[in-house]
Amino acid sequence: MPRWMALNYDHPIEIVSGSGSRITDADGNTYLDFFCGILTNMLGYDVPEVREAVQRQLAKGVVHTSTLYLIRSQVELAEKISRLSGIDGAKVFFTNSGTEANETALLLATAARRSSQVLALRNSYHGRSFGAVAITGNASWRSSQLAPFSVHYVHGTDRELPAFAGMSDAEYITAAVADLRHVLTTAAAARDVACLIAEPIQGVGGFTMPPDGLLRAYKEVLDSHGILLISDEVQTGWGRTGEHFWGISAHGVVPDMMTFAKGLGNGFAIGGVVARGDLMDSVPANGISTFGGNPFATTAANATLDYLLSHDLQRNAATLGSLIIGGLREAAEPLAAVGAVRGKGLMFAVDLVDPVTAAPSAPLAARAMEAARERGLLIGKGGLYGNTLRIAPPMTLTEAEAKEGLGLLTDALRAVDAEAS
Ligand SMILES: Cc1ncc(COP(=O)(O)O)c(C=O)c1O
Repeated sequence: MPRWMALNYDHPIEIVSGSGSRITDADGNTYLDFFCGILTNMLGYDVPEVREAVQRQLAKGVVHTSTLYLIRSQVELAEKISRLSGIDGAKVFFTNSGTEANETALLLATAARRSSQVLALRNSYHGRSFGAVAITGNASWRSSQLAPFSVHYVHGTDRELPAFAGMSDAEYITAAVADLRHVLTTAAAARDVACLIAEPIQGVGGFTMPPDGLLRAYKEVLDSHGILLISDEVQTGWGRTGEHFWGISAHGVVPDMMTFAKGLGNGFAIGGVVARGDLMDSVPANGISTFGGNPFATTAANATLDYLLSHDLQRNAATLGSLIIGGLREAAEPLAAVGAVRGKGLMFAVDLVDPVTAAPSAPLAARAMEAARERGLLIGKGGLYGNTLRIAPPMTLTEAEAKEGLGLLTDALRAVDAEAS
């Protein structure tokens, strides 16, 4: 297996069973899971409603048919997502992953606009295929410089740069929009740009986010040139941010397309694109996905989405997210090794920094991951400088589990701070 496929922890964990928000490893240790297989076990583990729906489908003897035949669960899921998207006349195409979803969106945008110029955000991550790597704004994930697109990067999540220091949200938005206009006049020929693709909260980038409203301000400029806006909702979709069902709604704008994956199947492989119908239909040749939208994955996804909506898990994400983020901010106050705490709903991050210089510290973040594990809590890591703890518990989290996780994480941060100081 490839060397570039890294494992978490000095002594990696094999997860062998799970229930609710907890998992057990092959050595019999149990953990509270605050990373959910990278935000993918959105409802936690072993949810009866999902398990039973999948078992019923298995019992029918049909896991796969291909899209050459009608798949009832696929049509039903497409109708639900189209309705939830807020996009006029939306159509949905299903894939097996977020990468493929973004590939499809880029295909649609470049076909509709007959252009291979794409705008992306600095510090972005959209997947690991040739096309997705080409729009990656984070050097440590940029595995190739060859590209099927001509890509220009715009600002959005880099407010720590000296040029933007001390700016209010409104001032930063004005500066970033001026930069977009400049890019469209200099690097790119504006009349000939296909799209801007953006994560409302950058996942791999360390849960960094533009100020609310920036993407709407960008869209006003894009609209005047006919340039399309794609929101990559692979991490931010389905109410995880608490305040909205889609991450981009924080900007007060409906994009032309959204891509999704991760949590939708609660672990079963599914992704897709929801797009304006005319864009979805703009591809000038045949297309299929052999596995995309198969009966098995779409059955799991329907059950997951129904559960999420009927239990109002978006509200749970808002309530428990505020509880944990508030608690972390308070706990981090006296800790010199903790730089910033940020996030929305059940998607939040903690930056580790050198206690003396305040420079990003990847070794301290690694140490904090280990310290959390030693205390029975699984979390993630990322960020441009590798110094960010990324935390995303299941959206079914209970208040007791939220408090328990907050306690474990706080304890781990205090221990690392004490060691580092
Ligand atoms: C925002 C975003 N887009 C796309 C992807 C790619 O998804 P996948 O790994 O399912 O191909 C990821 C994966 O982490 C992601 O975070």
